[in-house]
Amino acid sequence: MKTKNIFSIALAASLTIVCIPQAKTIDKKAILQRLSLTDKAHFVIGTGMAGMNGNNAVIGATKSLVPGAAGTTYPLDSLGIPSIVLADGPAGLRIDAHRAGDTATYYCTHFPIGTLLASTWNQQLVEEVGKAIGNEAKEYGTDVLLAPAVNIHRNPLNGRNFEYYSEDPLVAGKTAAAYIRGVQSNGVGTSIKHFAFNNQETNRMNTDARISQRAIREIYLKPFEIAIKEANPWTVMSSYNKINGTYTSESKDLLTTILRDEWGYKGTVMTDWFGGKDGATQVWAGNDMLQPGKAEQFTSIVESVKNGKLEKGDLDRNITRILNLIEKTPRYQGYHYSNKPDLKAHAAVTRQSATEGMVLLKNNGALPLRTKASNTQIALYGCTSYDFIAGGTGSGNVNHAYIVSLLEGLKNAGYRVDSQLQKAYTQYISDCKAAEKAHMEEAMKKDKQTAMLAMFLPSPRPIEMNITPEQLNKQAKTAQIAIITLGRISGEFLDRKQADFNLTKEENQLISNVCKAYHKVGKKVIVLLNVGGAIETASWKAMPDAILCAWQAGQEGGNSVADVISGKTSPSGKLTMTWPINFADAYSSKNFPIDKMPDLNMTNQGKAGNNEKNVDYTNYEEDIYVGYRYFDSFNKQVSYPFGYGLSYTQFYYSNAKVNNNGDIITVTVNVKNIGKTTGKEVVELYEAAPNSKKFNKPTKELKAFAKTKALKPGETEVVTLTVKTSDLASFNEAASAWKIDAGIYQLLIGNSSRDIRATLSTSVKAQETSVHNVLAPQEPLNLLHR
Ligand code: BGC
Repeated sequence: MKTKNIFSIALAASLTIVCIPQAKTIDKKAILQRLSLTDKAHFVIGTGMAGMNGNNAVIGATKSLVPGAAGTTYPLDSLGIPSIVLADGPAGLRIDAHRAGDTATYYCTHFPIGTLLASTWNQQLVEEVGKAIGNEAKEYGTDVLLAPAVNIHRNPLNGRNFEYYSEDPLVAGKTAAAYIRGVQSNGVGTSIKHFAFNNQETNRMNTDARISQRAIREIYLKPFEIAIKEANPWTVMSSYNKINGTYTSESKDLLTTILRDEWGYKGTVMTDWFGGKDGATQVWAGNDMLQPGKAEQFTSIVESVKNGKLEKGDLDRNITRILNLIEKTPRYQGYHYSNKPDLKAHAAVTRQSATEGMVLLKNNGALPLRTKASNTQIALYGCTSYDFIAGGTGSGNVNHAYIVSLLEGLKNAGYRVDSQLQKAYTQYISDCKAAEKAHMEEAMKKDKQTAMLAMFLPSPRPIEMNITPEQLNKQAKTAQIAIITLGRISGEFLDRKQADFNLTKEENQLISNVCKAYHKVGKKVIVLLNVGGAIETASWKAMPDAILCAWQAGQEGGNSVADVISGKTSPSGKLTMTWPINFADAYSSKNFPIDKMPDLNMTNQGKAGNNEKNVDYTNYEEDIYVGYRYFDSFNKQVSYPFGYGLSYTQFYYSNAKVNNNGDIITVTVNVKNIGKTTGKEVVELYEAAPNSKKFNKPTKELKAFAKTKALKPGETEVVTLTVKTSDLASFNEAASAWKIDAGIYQLLIGNSSRDIRATLSTSVKAQETSVHNVLAPQEPLNLLHR
């Protein structure tokens, strides 16, 4: 009987016909033959912002197909080619949460900002987050997610740094690659953006980034090159700005010579929304699709084909690439999306991922809290403790269902809070918001520009409430510990102001008064930073007992912070950018727009401008000396170095070894948890080139990194880091080549750029790889160190 059963199962299995549905394909040649010139010009342009009125047309938004998505492609219904849906963005899918005449909700999960994800230095974790975001995109009917955003943190005040990953190209590139792999594993596309040199928001539609060829190659293009080669995003989004005189979306050197000829990219390029000026030039350059489309672009393409300025072949090539993209999408393949992604499961993903990117900047034993939660009363200071920031504004925002504040997070974890203080803050915040609303309404009646500003820029944070020393003394008696949260928010269109980097006088006062009152009675004070980028810390960091940078940690932020504060998770995030003492210390601050007003007109490309420095053009005089490459090479003091972050435990590095087979350098090192708490460690491998002064190289550059698993006390992991020898090359402008000078290279293993735990060396042979001599500045730049 038994034998018979097994036999019949085997027979049934062998007779089962497995039906794998065949992917639908598009006969591109046949489609091209059937399209008129007008159809073709329409097809390379998006469908505009359907259903939106003019006032709202500042960031991508359409009401068709998936309301609130950034845009759609042009449909060719009679040929069976549907519109596909493109939607932002980096911290989660941005679509409308509500639809007219529909009681259902379409909330998306607000994941941590890009900077926090990068601060995990954990590519597997970023991939998991990408998977969850991609799943929401797919289940809400989106075909291409307009993310990741990978531009370099050139200066601390760029308004969009929170969407971006790092001042270091390797960290940025590897993080982006992991994110792309995760999102695209769902069978939806990504759009790596903004290609490239989008390092300031001031006059972003017109500004000319003037950069040396070497910095272009080594710093600004590198993260794109890494992510594109490793993870093959379905699309690339060109940026708004110019590079050395040419709009990136009109630069054949960038979009064809480098991207396709040198890097081998085969996907589709789209503009940023309303980016670039002349449609025909964009098509010629290899910018396949112009989003969301402008009438002038259409006319320019049609006229230019008619008068022979644009070859029909160029247009057909771009159309073929758009069809290649459409062919892969869920919409073309007939996927029936549910509009019901598992938001609960994704809330767990965002909560856990956020804890891993938080950076412990200081800890005098205040953290983790050691007393039982129910026995611990916490006094919460700072408006932001009660009004947490999940992420930045603009297209990087997400229409989330809720945000867990620090107050709620701590209560959820069982802590008690000073309820009197809570009451006072809640009232104060609501009064401030009401006053701000009334002020805005008044101002909006007066002029349209203010109305636009109100709609698209972050509202100002309330000025910190004054608490008298007597009140503080009283609170310090009943609470076991004080937490002060400082908040910052920014977004596209506007760079951060210097004042946003520095603390306000009320914030300074609050820290100093709280510390005085609590320290007097032997109690500790923690400062929590709910920020999107670096702020000034040097002048006040000696006062509190601990400082935790929580970043903007997504919708579960308060719960994630509670997980770290309570010790449920040991912090293992590390800074992906240097925190300078003063804003002016970064060399790029000399050439960065400071305290300028935004220009919200998205369609003003080609406006004459006043040739104003740092507005109409910006000279990247720091050259390759961005972030730690500058601070470490020129021995400048910093507040917190690149790669820095404490843990609740300590790690010991030993037995570092190197093996070099000529192509690949492999470094191994033992990392042992020698503390009392389970924790993960990030291991950073820097290279120091021989004769770095002679060859004008930074004293060190990150070449690999890895994160250990959660190591128990006493546990050791052998960490392996690999570097291709070709990655040691610098860009030699005279030869237009990547060049390696022969010699002994030092390999520095550390846990920040300023904490090197082991040094190895290896001999490397000379190498040279020629590339195209493109994108040269039109005039010489006054470069640091040349
Ligand atoms: C932003 C892009 C975004 C697009 C569509 C633009 O304003 O720069 O990052 O993807 O809008 O919303």
